[in-house]
Amino acid sequence: MNILAVVGSYRKGKTIDTLIDKAIEGAKEGGGDHVHVEKLYLIDKNIEYCKNCMVCRRDDPDKPIAKCIIADDMQTIYPMIEKADGFIFGTPVNMGAATAIMKTFLERTCWVLAKPGKRPIRGCPTPRTTRKKMAIIIVSSGIISPVFRRWCDDATPLIKSFCACHLNAKVLGSLYAGGVERKGMDIYLDEAYKLGKKLVSCVQ
Ligand SMILES: Cc1cc2nc3c(=O)[nH]c(=O)nc-3n(C[C@H](O)[C@H](O)[C@H](O)COP(=O)(O)O)c2cc1C
Repeated sequence: MNILAVVGSYRKGKTIDTLIDKAIEGAKEGGGDHVHVEKLYLIDKNIEYCKNCMVCRRDDPDKPIAKCIIADDMQTIYPMIEKADGFIFGTPVNMGAATAIMKTFLERTCWVLAKPGKRPIRGCPTPRTTRKKMAIIIVSSGIISPVFRRWCDDATPLIKSFCACHLNAKVLGSLYAGGVERKGMDIYLDEAYKLGKKLVSCVQ
């Protein structure tokens, strides 16, 4: 089983990176030897902005990966996403939303892994893959505590909808590590571990 962990933080070894590691630990302990995890640090990659050329959206809908004309690291990342059975997405909540690198990554994946669907809204993205996948989401915030999450976290709903419309992935759970500047992240480690374990228990 292939798990792809996408790190949308600007900092290695800090909150998101550590919580993702904990989820990976849970996944490996839950799934044993047949769990293969790839950790993708977006910050290390050359990922250009989408150019809105629409070559991907017009490409053959039967292709699992549509053509993207931008020659950068996304060309090697697309097959990694396509190959994965499960995903761990992690991003700090900056200005109430996913980080710019996470958003850039999502935009670049948008019509490459999805095609215009017919229902319920004509043209709405539908995943190119028919393989059912699973995902978990981990977000963190510096100041906002978990009780205010619903008003201050646009990152989780964005990634959730990306999972449904672009990856054919069901989101099994999400962790909001809120107020880490005051509380630290240690109180969230156990929840991250459990989410990782849950992920592999649900992936076929
Ligand atoms: C540009 C910027 C905007 C931020 N906006 C918010 C915010 O809206 N709410 C909040 O609670 N924390 C905010 N933070 C704090 C980050 O969310 C926090 O440092 C991050 O979750 C820690 O993740 P990391 O350790 O993986 O970098 C912001 C940080 C930066 C750099």
